[in-house]
Amino acid sequence: MFNDSKKLTVILVGLPGSGKTCIAKKLSRYLNWKGCFTKIFCPDLYLQKLKVLESKTSCMDGQEEKDWNTLSMAECLKDLICWLKNSLEAKVAILDSENLLRDQRALLKKKLETETGSSILFIESVCNINQILVDGENTFACERRVQQYQLRYESLDELLDPNYSFLKLFDVNKSIVTRNVEGHISALIVYFLINARFHSRTLYFSRHGESEYNLQGILGGDSDLSLRGVEYASKLHEYFTGVKIENLQVWTSPLKRARQTAQLFEEKAKIWKCLEEIKAGICEGMTYQQISELYPEEFRSREKDKYNYRYPRGESYYDVVVRLEPIMLELERANNVLIIGHQAVLRCILAYFLGKSTEELPFMEVPLHSVLKISAMADDYHMQTISLNISAVSTQLPFNANL
Ligand code: G3H
Repeated sequence: MFNDSKKLTVILVGLPGSGKTCIAKKLSRYLNWKGCFTKIFCPDLYLQKLKVLESKTSCMDGQEEKDWNTLSMAECLKDLICWLKNSLEAKVAILDSENLLRDQRALLKKKLETETGSSILFIESVCNINQILVDGENTFACERRVQQYQLRYESLDELLDPNYSFLKLFDVNKSIVTRNVEGHISALIVYFLINARFHSRTLYFSRHGESEYNLQGILGGDSDLSLRGVEYASKLHEYFTGVKIENLQVWTSPLKRARQTAQLFEEKAKIWKCLEEIKAGICEGMTYQQISELYPEEFRSREKDKYNYRYPRGESYYDVVVRLEPIMLELERANNVLIIGHQAVLRCILAYFLGKSTEELPFMEVPLHSVLKISAMADDYHMQTISLNISAVSTQLPFNANL
């Protein structure tokens, strides 16, 4: 999907504490999830490393004062350029630093364009000083530092930077201004940032209860719940009645086993077609054993690259990620949602929040009869698995199953 797109360098602009790192992480998580390989480069991290190195290798007497900021930026840019130029899969590099001065940005743009051949997109985060996020730093010292920077700060400007491609986010993303934004990846970034939210929230996920097909190890289809599956549906409802979540929304796949699991939530449940399980095409209704005997080549190809493998007349995990896009953007804004879905689909959704790679995604454990609770704060996501203690078969296919 991104093979034809030109590589891109995103240069962040903004005062300390204006949410740049959070924007960088969120953006990187989203682009990587879509298979657009993205890496963040932050000079501050190089600064820490350089200082540790210096303290180990030199005696302090007679040392002249070093310009640490220049040194750390130079090291960081060296790595960024090397990665973007030499890595075949590299698509987007994000430079997470303040870059408050117009001359400084012009130099960066020229250097990065020339040395990486990438397009440049500036993303500026403009925050009211009272909303600046103070992160583990003494509030007073931080405010003073921000005030000093503010005196010299030159914001991106349509008239003064007429040829720049840029995007300005005001108060995180209450309003957004874009100029000269071109290209598939940049357009995707704008679309995502318009939808992204940075508030704390909680999301819940559950697979449907155990189905008749799960008992027989059969893939796909549209079977009913097993007796234990029915028991889980009622336990799930009881759990959510007990924890009393304000304005709980329930989103479910249209397949029978998911709707039967959501049944007790009655009118609350909203059906999303894109939550349907991965389509196994010609292998629907078969067990792994039968697939390996009837279509050994297919079975081996899937083992080699489970994420990209597409079942004949069916789907790949990548296809599922693509079709989930609308629900992911809704989930960015949502709070207190319970999604009742399927193993492959939930792997794709959870991989986004947990930052799993495309290699890890198809093997993530999403056990039956458990609630997976994701708590989000800014860009930190934590997952808790709550088993509702009703036994069920395991549907986790081991890697290299050798059937
Ligand atoms: O086919 C349905 C399964 O939920 C997908 O599992 O990708 O591990 O085969 P699998």
